[in-house]
Amino acid sequence: MNSKDEKKLWDSRFTEATDAFVEEFTASVKFDQILADYDIRGSIAHATMLKHIDVLSNNELELIKSGLEEILADIHSGKFVWSSALEDVHMNIEQALTDRIGEVGKTLHTGRSRNDQVATDIRLYLRDKIDVIAELITRLQSGLIDLAEKEVGTILPGMTHLQVAQPITFGHHMMAWHEMLERDYGRLSDCRARVNIMPLGSAALAGTTFPIDREFTAKLLEFDSIAENSLDAVSDRDFAIEFAAFASLLMTHLSRWSEEMILWSSSQFEFIELPDRFCTGSSIMPQKKNPDVPELVRGKSARVFGGLVSLLTLMKSQPLAYNKDNQEDKEPLFDMVNTITDCLTAFGDMVPEIITQPDNMRNAALKGHATATDLADYLVKKGLAFRDAHDVVGKLVRDAITQEVDLSELSLDALQAASDLIEADVFDVLTLEGSINARNHPGGTSPEQVRQAIARARTKTKARK
Ligand code: ARG
Repeated sequence: MNSKDEKKLWDSRFTEATDAFVEEFTASVKFDQILADYDIRGSIAHATMLKHIDVLSNNELELIKSGLEEILADIHSGKFVWSSALEDVHMNIEQALTDRIGEVGKTLHTGRSRNDQVATDIRLYLRDKIDVIAELITRLQSGLIDLAEKEVGTILPGMTHLQVAQPITFGHHMMAWHEMLERDYGRLSDCRARVNIMPLGSAALAGTTFPIDREFTAKLLEFDSIAENSLDAVSDRDFAIEFAAFASLLMTHLSRWSEEMILWSSSQFEFIELPDRFCTGSSIMPQKKNPDVPELVRGKSARVFGGLVSLLTLMKSQPLAYNKDNQEDKEPLFDMVNTITDCLTAFGDMVPEIITQPDNMRNAALKGHATATDLADYLVKKGLAFRDAHDVVGKLVRDAITQEVDLSELSLDALQAASDLIEADVFDVLTLEGSINARNHPGGTSPEQVRQAIARARTKTKARK
């Protein structure tokens, strides 16, 4: 069961070729080839540093650089042939370099190991993706802010326990989603700071005997700093777990939001309509228009949470330093990156196109005695203790239920029968507008406050660019 004759970069001490199945089993090239750009960028920086400390000559550096650039061009054009026998992206590229430029190719790996190389590649990859994801979050937030502004005075029932609670504005509701994304953005920025630390120079685990200049390489690769401890640096994947935690919370938010869009676009609610191009039909029921995008986003949260659990479990029992287990970090990480990129793109496209149905929202707000708290507050302002006011209004709600009307539709006589503190001005607070306008403090739902929140949010998102 011996594998092909191909010589491996490490097989001199071996007496037989790798088992063919083991070769496939241990190879990562099928999935880690997407690191090629980062691997080559890291190798060029490493070679440049080797020249800087006089381990390589200028000629050697130039040969290595142009060889690597040609390889990258071949990879981009699809000409490059990847081989499982060469295990991973790193050895495929290194072997191709030697095939192309001869003996000099063999000097590239001086003072380096695949252990610090792969850790560097993943960080470069993730840093790039983080920047793309940060922009997608900002784009989605901007869409939300615009929608909030358009619907700043649109009234709908705010819910607790999914029961009508108090009237709120649609703008306020959209800005609640904006706040969640604001925290996601903050978490992503924090995560980036810990991603952007360079492990290169740690070599296999203990550092190298060459007088390397790590700060020099870090500068070339635009890392903020170098990792302090070589053992930790080659085995640390905390940064990937932090990213996974960020991604999981982001997906929790997108999933909750999806749930609302699904409910709101149902014929039971009809608060919003999603444009046809974001929905699909049923193969059997001709009337159906299904909210597939939010449903799929809600569903995709599952695989992202899976990624977080995979990475935590992957790391929890590993002794220092590098272990082959770490090769299993890549697929969940790549999958999480791709999934959240797709979900943010879909939402970024869809959210500004949401069609609101203000009349239905208003009617729903008029149904659940949504201004009951306002009436209680009114009685308190007239001198009643809040607990007693709660009691009076509770009884009035019961009357309204018996008469099959909303609390705001009870006659003045009926209201006054419950409390002689009630006067004609009560209807100012019992209306939906009275209710939302009265919540006029920072964080409140009144259109005036939401307008201010929108202005603050715009300033923050604009400052990022
Ligand atoms: N493909 C490996 C990985 O993804 C690269 C590092 C291999 N290092 C080693 N000592 N076998 O982790």
